[in-house]
Amino acid sequence: MISLRSFYSTPLNKHSLVLIHAFPLTSNMWDEAAETVAKNAPSFNIILADMPGFGNAPVLKEWTLAAAMVDLHHQLHVQDMLEPVIGGLSMGGYAALAYYRLYPNEVKALILSNTKAAADSAEGKKGREEFAKDVEARGYDAVYERMLPKLVSDSAKKKNSDLLPKLKRWISSSSTEAIASCLRTLALRDDSTDLLPNISCPSLLVTGEDDGIIASEEMEEMASQIPRSKFISFIKGGHLTAVEDPEKWGSVVSSFLNVL
Ligand code: MLT
Repeated sequence: MISLRSFYSTPLNKHSLVLIHAFPLTSNMWDEAAETVAKNAPSFNIILADMPGFGNAPVLKEWTLAAAMVDLHHQLHVQDMLEPVIGGLSMGGYAALAYYRLYPNEVKALILSNTKAAADSAEGKKGREEFAKDVEARGYDAVYERMLPKLVSDSAKKKNSDLLPKLKRWISSSSTEAIASCLRTLALRDDSTDLLPNISCPSLLVTGEDDGIIASEEMEEMASQIPRSKFISFIKGGHLTAVEDPEKWGSVVSSFLNVL
């Protein structure tokens, strides 16, 4: 169902970090940030997950985040990774929360980046379905029009002219069928708000103050509800903090991992 890519590992490492990508990207979004983590927190193996239909994972017409997390847990167990750190950005964060709900005693720590605990509102669900139908009718243009203006901050776009072409390459590497099916999955996801006060592992929450998809205030509020959490907001950071400034994201995450 999902596909795992080992990004970094050494035979001596006991700990693993699993990173789950945002919608509608692939695990490629992590490559630069993961390089920084591998350099600065080398005692963690790094596994990059691709959700159904993305990267090397086969397209599924219907799937849920919870089912994908059951599959992730199974695949990690087969590889003897029994107490991973689970990290995700945006959709990856929704998935990390779904993983924690299923396996609360088997998560060493959580890294929640540019994400939220709330489910889609009725209006949000309707918008997802319109988006899915538009992707089916018009293809990638429907995705670029809706997502590109919001995925990265204006300051990141100004600094890095390769950012938008890179996002387009990542988006178009997945089929429009996979993108539409993922939109329907996101609309069906559970609300995780009730989970927050019960998260007992250390949690790092990272966001950008100019995130155009999930307001940083919403993440700050989320952090205030998670008992052992640390909250960091990047100045002028947008939605894809780990792509805009992979070195900074990787350094912050490495510092968190190194004291676990
Ligand atoms: C993401 O970046 O994963 C998406 O924007 C999440 C969403 O649409 O809810």
